[in-house]
Amino acid sequence: MTTTLIRGRLLSFNRAPQAIDDSAAYSYESDGALLIGDGVIKASGPYGVVKAAAPDGVTEIDHRPHLIMPGFIDTHLHFPQMQVMASYAANLLEWLNTYTFPEECRFVESAHAERIAIHFFDEMIRHGTTTAAAYCSVHKASADAFFAESLKRNMRMVAGKVMMDRNAPQGLLDTPGMSYDETRAVIADWHGKGRNHVAITPRFAITSTPEQMEVAKSLVGEFPDLHVQTHLSENRDEITFTCELYPEAKDYTDVYARYGLLGPKSLFGHCIHLSDREADAMSETGSVAVFCPTSNLFLGSGLFPLRALTRRQKPVRVSVASDIGGGTSYSMLKTLDEAYKILQLQAERLNPFDSFYLMTRCNAEALSLVERIGTLEPGTDADLVVLNMAATPAMALRAEVVNSLADELFLLQTMGDDRAIVETYVAGRPAKSSLGTV
Ligand code: GUN
Ligand code: ZN
Repeated sequence: MTTTLIRGRLLSFNRAPQAIDDSAAYSYESDGALLIGDGVIKASGPYGVVKAAAPDGVTEIDHRPHLIMPGFIDTHLHFPQMQVMASYAANLLEWLNTYTFPEECRFVESAHAERIAIHFFDEMIRHGTTTAAAYCSVHKASADAFFAESLKRNMRMVAGKVMMDRNAPQGLLDTPGMSYDETRAVIADWHGKGRNHVAITPRFAITSTPEQMEVAKSLVGEFPDLHVQTHLSENRDEITFTCELYPEAKDYTDVYARYGLLGPKSLFGHCIHLSDREADAMSETGSVAVFCPTSNLFLGSGLFPLRALTRRQKPVRVSVASDIGGGTSYSMLKTLDEAYKILQLQAERLNPFDSFYLMTRCNAEALSLVERIGTLEPGTDADLVVLNMAATPAMALRAEVVNSLADELFLLQTMGDDRAIVETYVAGRPAKSSLGTV
């Protein structure tokens, strides 16, 4: 077994911070080290202690003075939308119909899907994201391309073949039968291969007939451990149209509830305009509301009520995500920068510890994967990000007057992007510095 000792400042979270001075919420080592072997963290702690326990002649990588954290986790994005980012539209439905659906039609071609998958994983690594929950397109070929590339890079990824059988161009539609057979085939081909997880992925209620929602329900019944991902309550026109399509449902959330799609493995993108009843239903089932700040601002969808959802008597589980390509940055740093501003507009605060907790441990918990990712605990996957708060001339100048960990994190979040990512480790392998050679 080859082991590596990675030295630097270490930061990881034990639980949600209650306040900016809640230092018990995180573990910080000003001169720390991680012993890595077989793709997992073998030991974590002060450099002197970990070094003493390491085998003689262990390879050492010294990242001082940089900060080492668990790799970032992105809980909602669309792999076939890399060439949709930055498309000029007034709102969600116009953006979907004008740009997104036509673009996703191209993923019927394996060669196209394979080429974009390479770019997708390159961007994840460049931005320090080591796990994502991704939507592929409706075509099985897109899921095959995604998971093959993920397997090649040994990344822990959650993804699904999208199910959609109406209200989109012909080239982007399956049928209830096809979506059942192909989702089962994707599960058989990829679930549990390497670090791949398959998610049951009905796009949203507008693009699925009741017959297809029945199929999603059957799949959840057959594969209760799999993730489910879909969209909920992003845009007012979307909500109105959904309620017209499913008149028997009490509200948008109830559409999914009627098909058994709520639950602790279910991720609902957006959830901006939920009623109290809907939030109660989310809370009671342990469903996750996924906050996508750059997308919500870009598409003018609204301000995600993060604090209102988590502070309520029946709290709703939350996570954060880029929502590429409605989102405008691959960077979880930029994503949390925009999240901060969304809370400012609601007279709420998001302190820097909250932000870094959200993009690591909180997102791991939202995916029910905290036993494997999102912390620096021994025994978990060695997926890491190394951060430099002085990555650009402007950041370096600002860093001169930083004198606390909170200031450093806030600088990274507010001014940082992929340039602040010194290295991304995937299962112990330095992946950013070897981009282009995989
Ligand atoms: N709702 C249904 N599909 C999508 C999508 O691709 N992006 C966003 N932001 N919302 C959606
Ligand atoms: Zn989305």
